[in-house]
Amino acid sequence: MELPELIRTRRSIRAFESRHVEAAKLQCILDMANLAPSAGNLQAYEIYQVEASHPRAALARAADQSFIAQAPVILVFFANTGRSARKYGARGRELYAIQDATIAATYAMLAAVDQGLSTVWIGAFDPSKVTAALGAPPDWTPVAVLPIGYAAESPAATPRRPINEMVHKT
Ligand SMILES: Cc1cc2nc3c(=O)[nH]c(=O)nc-3n(C[C@H](O)[C@H](O)[C@H](O)COP(=O)(O)O)c2cc1C
Repeated sequence: MELPELIRTRRSIRAFESRHVEAAKLQCILDMANLAPSAGNLQAYEIYQVEASHPRAALARAADQSFIAQAPVILVFFANTGRSARKYGARGRELYAIQDATIAATYAMLAAVDQGLSTVWIGAFDPSKVTAALGAPPDWTPVAVLPIGYAAESPAATPRRPINEMVHKT
């Protein structure tokens, strides 16, 4: 799919078929995430690939959004704040690591759509419960949870602010 069409047709999907996600598709998604830009090329993020049912259920509880457990695969992006802080200090810890993780997750989201899969960006969760669900180190900050699978719904496009409202030309 061409990028403009991919971006126009992407939707947040919150219902998934139980159908398995092919390993090659998942690998492609991870490879695309790995090509995201990052501050100083440090790639100050970590990705959990979650397929077992127990941690998927725990993530759904951490977000209090039960549909998450339906997805056969969940990718969880953490900011590795210490990795960026070692080079960039507070700016690395407070901003760059979060941005690195966010951009990588965005690449993964778009790559999933390109593979004929669907996802939704989950940001509303209890971070300590996400960390506990995965046994992640306490100094990594969970940034985004992406449940990935084949869509079992086809929602309409959501509205957007007019672009001129957000673009400030000087
Ligand atoms: C930072 C962020 C946090 C979000 N958190 C949630 C969430 O916790 N649960 C959810 O169902 N959708 C969540 N969404 C998805 C948005 O609701 C969705 O992107 C928005 O309504 C626009 O719809 P669309 O993605 O279909 O274009 C989040 C999106 C972003 C970017």
